[in-house]
Order: sequence, then C-alpha cells, then structure tokens
Amino acid sequence: MGSKPESIVVLTGAGISAESGIQTFRAADGLWENHPVDEVATPEGFERNPQLVYEFYNQRRRKLLSDEIRPNAAHSYLAKFEHEFEGEFLLVTQNIDNLHERAGSENLLHMHCELLKMRCLNSQLVFDINEDFGFDTHCRCCRSPGNLRPHIVWFGEMPFHMNKINQALESCDLFVAIGTSGNVYPASGFYQTAKIRRARTVELNLERTGSGFDEHITGKASEIVPSYFDSLLTNY
Ligand code: OAD
Repeated sequence: MGSKPESIVVLTGAGISAESGIQTFRAADGLWENHPVDEVATPEGFERNPQLVYEFYNQRRRKLLSDEIRPNAAHSYLAKFEHEFEGEFLLVTQNIDNLHERAGSENLLHMHCELLKMRCLNSQLVFDINEDFGFDTHCRCCRSPGNLRPHIVWFGEMPFHMNKINQALESCDLFVAIGTSGNVYPASGFYQTAKIRRARTVELNLERTGSGFDEHITGKASEIVPSYFDSLLTNY
C-alpha cells in the first residue's frame, strides 16, 4: 500500500452531498440543467437580474436548512478521520452547503464560499444569514438596502483561500478528490499541483472522471469514503 501518508489534502465536490439530498450541477437532472449558469452564477447575471439570483440562492438555502437535509456517512467519516489521523489534514470543499461542519470537520476551507453567508458590496464584510434576503434587505453595516449579495464565488471570480490551499497541495503526500467532476478550474488542477511534490493522487467518485489520478475508486461516496479512509487508518 506504500508509505504511510503524513500530510493529506482532500477536495470535495457536489457528489459527496448528493446522498444527503442536494442536487449536483452537471448530472442530467443537475442544477445547471434548469438554471443557466450565466444567469444565476456570474457577476453579469447578478447585474442584469439580481432578483433571479437572490431567489435561486434563497431556494437553495431553504432546502439546505430543511429537516430532510443532513450529513451522510461520507461527511461523518471524513470528520472522524480528521480527529483520529495524526498527521496534517486539510479539507477543501467546492460545496457551499454546511454539511462538512455539521458532521464535525474542523480544518475546512470553503473555496467557493458559503450559502449561509451574505456579503456587503461596499465594505466586503461577510454576515451569517439563515433566511431569505434580497434587494430590499438592509445591510447590517451600511444600513441601506440593495448592497448585499450572496457570499458565493461566481464564474469569472477568484476562489477564496488559494494561497493556503496551494501551500497545502505543494507539501502534501496524499491528495484525494471526492465527488467532483473536475470541470471547474482551479480545483480541476489541484491533483497536478499535488503531483509536483510527488504526492499520491486518488479519486473517489461514482464514475471515473479522467486519467490523471494514480488510483480511481468508483462507487457511492457514503460507501467508498468510509472504507478508503478506514484503510488509511488501519493498513499501515
Ligand atoms: P458536478 O455536478 O460537476 O460533479 C459531481 C460529481 O459527483 C460527478 O462526477 C458525479 O459522478 C459525482 N457523484 C454524484 N453522485 C455521487 C455519489 N453519491 N458518490 C460519489 N460521487 C458522486 O459538481 P462539482 O464537481 O462539485 O461552482 O462542480 C464544481 C463546481 O461547479 C461547483 O462548486 C459549482 C459548479 O459550477 C460554482 O458554482 C462556482
């Protein structure tokens, strides 16, 4: 099985939350099928029709906060692994849901930001939000309406935490991508950055997405994540 990893970076995508009831983006019935990306996930779309964008994220926030959505075994096992593993561990997620933190993950970076946050367009201050908000909502810092946007990275914008993420990728010896189609830059290139320092790269996904990884394990996240990370804890 090779030498014991000392520093691990895990990247997650929509596939890890699919079994929790959250739609992925690029499946045949995925979110981008009924909601054109350029309308709901670009700064230009927000400028053209802010109401549509507010409503899109309001709907998704309501769903995330509904009783039917909860972390699944994949989220829970990653949190358990983080607490039991003795080396360095960083979890980077492209997901805007809060299922990793609800499962107990701690060293976690949301590179595409978070559905339960909003940002002031003037001050760039970020606020928690558990309700609908829109054009009429008064900002908590400027006290005026019309200044708040979802705290979400849209297409054409720079993901957050990239310095920390690149540093961790450059020094890790194991990189694991879970439930991501590898369509969106820069996350799609993380495995290559990890390879610069000869990290082993592993993909856990329902299907094989490409040929760049050293190892591909296919199956449902709720099954393959616990078994793969369990093997890391026990097989050395
Ligand atoms: P995608 O919808 O592109 O891909 C989801 C991946 O998860 C696919 O490869 C599926 O095969 C896999 N999958 C689905 N169900 C699974 C399961 N139960 N177990 C394991 N794998 C499963 O989602 P992402 O790759 O996360 O960005 O998309 C990346 C970014 O594109 C998102 O963060 C979002 C989107 O546009 C922004 O909005 C900026």
